[in-house]
Amino acid sequence: MRLLFVGDIVGRGGRAVLLEHLPRLRARWALDVVVVNGENAAGGFGITEAILQEFLDAGADAVTLGNHAFDQKEALAFIDRQPRLIRPVNYPPGAPGRGAAVIETRTGARALVVNLMGRVFMDALDDPFRAIDAELAVTPLGQGCDVAIFDFHAEASSEKQAFGHYVDGRASLVVGTHTHAPTADARILGGGTAFMTDVGMTGDYDSVIGMAKEEPVRRFLKKVPGARMEPAMGPATLCAVAVETAANGLAERVAPVRIGGALEPALPEFW
Ligand SMILES: [Fe+2]
Ligand SMILES: [Fe+2]
Repeated sequence: MRLLFVGDIVGRGGRAVLLEHLPRLRARWALDVVVVNGENAAGGFGITEAILQEFLDAGADAVTLGNHAFDQKEALAFIDRQPRLIRPVNYPPGAPGRGAAVIETRTGARALVVNLMGRVFMDALDDPFRAIDAELAVTPLGQGCDVAIFDFHAEASSEKQAFGHYVDGRASLVVGTHTHAPTADARILGGGTAFMTDVGMTGDYDSVIGMAKEEPVRRFLKKVPGARMEPAMGPATLCAVAVETAANGLAERVAPVRIGGALEPALPEFW
């Protein structure tokens, strides 16, 4: 199967480049599963139901989140009626929504999609390693799902890589999100799990992690906020990772995707 995971969509510019390219990529590459991280989609902070619907209409099968999951308060309510919207699974019991779901895609694939948050330099959530064991006990790869995609939303490269090795052979793809800069290490681990430490954001890279650069620079200098953080509005780069899986759900090929904006373009050679 052919999977595409698109990194954190930041603000209007990120949304525009996603909506411009995703329908065409979905058709041209005959994608079976498309997952998009949407935690920064609404002005850089969270997601609205209207934006979620735009992403689904454009070809996303599922939308994952992260530490900004509930920045838009309406998400606390609408997440319960949107089964394709996935927040971190290791939130405390009783949090709205779900952290894992088996999503049926347009081509009939059954994709286990799990969003997890790391704990190094992040909020003190439950253990994501134990949380993934619980999910995989219920839905092992190849039984109940054709592919398994884990979005590990974390600050520390070490924690992301440790998690990748921990689930190697039990997932189709482990992809890092949250740092908003793509790493050059997309590869297939020894057990057959495709891995990339961070997929990068989908947004304007002439910025500080997607935000117009003046205010973040000012805050580092002055240590007090001066204005609201606003997404940078220049040309955005769509950053994603492309994976082809074998019949057993493990990865056979992996490649980074970068389209538009300031970054060097990259497309998978195998599609
Ligand atoms: Fe993000
Ligand atoms: Fe984040």
